[in-house]
Amino acid sequence: MPTPSENRTVIALALPDEAATEALAASLSPLLCGRRKGIDVGGRIHLRGDLGAGKTSFARAFLRASGIQGRIKSPSYALLESYNLSRLNFYHLDFYRFSDSHEWLDAGFRDILQEHAIVLIEWPEQAGDLLPPPDLDIRIEHEDEGRSAVLTAYSDKGSLWLTTLFPAKATPRPPTPAGDA
Ligand SMILES: Nc1ncnc2c1ncn2[C@@H]1O[C@H](COP(=O)(O)OP(=O)(O)O)[C@@H](O)[C@H]1O
Ligand SMILES: [Mg+2]
Repeated sequence: MPTPSENRTVIALALPDEAATEALAASLSPLLCGRRKGIDVGGRIHLRGDLGAGKTSFARAFLRASGIQGRIKSPSYALLESYNLSRLNFYHLDFYRFSDSHEWLDAGFRDILQEHAIVLIEWPEQAGDLLPPPDLDIRIEHEDEGRSAVLTAYSDKGSLWLTTLFPAKATPRPPTPAGDA
């Protein structure tokens, strides 16, 4: 796990049913798709949580809300599914079965990270050091019948997404002042 920067923004949410997971995804979509003034298009989101937590549900709802039509497959076998809308590229990756980093690097994986694209990554922890910190990490946990999520921003852009969506909840954490006793 990368170390969050000192001014990271963290929020915790209850996601009582699948509709709540989908609503969260749909609310993030316009921020990454350049449909909000003052926020650059593109960004990377890591989706973490056990099998069945709802990572693919989130990604599917995000892509659907972004305007992707037709079948949205889970990338758990192909490892990568990509989509394009006008000038915007979307990459949905799943590193669950990841084994050989050379294979990924040969396949131009670094280019994906450099582009002003939208990148959603399930099981990023399986990729070891290959991945830089995302703009936003979403950790989903089982909670009785529903789920809970912790959203952590690792970049200024990710923080801006959270403070835009949750102005009352998302408080940037300033560095702890020395000698604050
Ligand atoms: N917030 C939620 N509460 C309850 N069930 C959910 C929630 N979000 C998703 N689900 C359900 O949990 C399952 C998640 O599957 P999936 O998205 O494939 O998980 P993952 O990709 O994390 O392995 C789906 O059956 C979906 O309907
Ligand atoms: Mg999945």
